[in-house]
Amino acid sequence: MTDGASPPRPGPARPDEDQGGGPPGPAAPLIEVRGVSMRFRAQSVLRDINLGIERGQTVCIIGESGCGKTVMLKLLIGLLQPTSGSVLFDGGDIASLRGKDLIKLRLRFGFLFQMAALFDSLTVYDNVAFGLREHHVCDEAEVKRIVSTRLQEVGLPAGLEWKKPAELSGGQRKRVGLARALALKPEVMLYDEPTTGLDPIMTDVINELILQTKESEKATGIVVTHEMKTVAKVADRVVMFYPLARLGPDDPQVIYDGPPEGLEDAADPRVRQFVRGEAGERLREMAQQRTASP
Ligand SMILES: Nc1ncnc2c1ncn2[C@@H]1O[C@H](COP(=O)(O)OP(=O)(O)OP(=O)(O)O)[C@@H](O)[C@H]1O
Ligand SMILES: [Mg+2]
Repeated sequence: MTDGASPPRPGPARPDEDQGGGPPGPAAPLIEVRGVSMRFRAQSVLRDINLGIERGQTVCIIGESGCGKTVMLKLLIGLLQPTSGSVLFDGGDIASLRGKDLIKLRLRFGFLFQMAALFDSLTVYDNVAFGLREHHVCDEAEVKRIVSTRLQEVGLPAGLEWKKPAELSGGQRKRVGLARALALKPEVMLYDEPTTGLDPIMTDVINELILQTKESEKATGIVVTHEMKTVAKVADRVVMFYPLARLGPDDPQVIYDGPPEGLEDAADPRVRQFVRGEAGERLREMAQQRTASP
């Protein structure tokens, strides 16, 4: 399926099960989002989302501001628990993980947060080294080697590692966040708007790094982005969410799930408008909302 709503929910048997003595079926997805809904008090943000993400695949999640993209990433790593439904990683429900098991799971993920989320009181060096030290994965000499390699990879000049985040530009902070997320060689990288606020050259540098991580580390990637250039460069697949507030009670929230090449000519006009950056009906809707509000 290349367009329209998310695929039908799988039945209780997975495709790799019930094969008898025959050849093994296709592998189960590394990440499986099953019927996930998320609500914050009175506000419903996600409704009945179903997504299977294969090992090694890079999926871009797009959609307008507030439609629940960051919430989705946080659900994938267990920083938020869904109101209903479940998120499976490698076949196990992450809601059932506690303590050490949850830490082990998080070690398999790298997360580049939307606002970089660095520790303000630590230097750049200590920020990138943080996870390595926290989890005692190597000695200090190896920490030093990894930190300088990762900082070089993201194009940060030598000497910058002794600065604090407050002394950096937004783009530099983002790159430090990326170096930190990559330090532990994660199996899955979650990128929340990795290029927002960067100049075109730096945007391309980050896109290249995402591509490299995908190719050399064979990492699975989930990239939340507004940048169509990022989508074109890194995505194997694109999933588009639509804000629940503007959907009817039975409308699917995933309005596109398919290859990046299919976006421009998608059957759904909401998808075409978004990728072409056209305001379309939205200007009129926003004007109507303004006149309707007291
Ligand atoms: N912890 C929270 N508590 C209450 N509401 C929340 C929380 N996190 C997110 N929300 C709400 O959920 C909605 C979706 O938020 P989210 O951050 O996922 O949007 P987004 O699609 O990432 O938008 P953007 O493109 O602007 O980053 C927003 O209305 C937001 O206010
Ligand atoms: Mg967001």
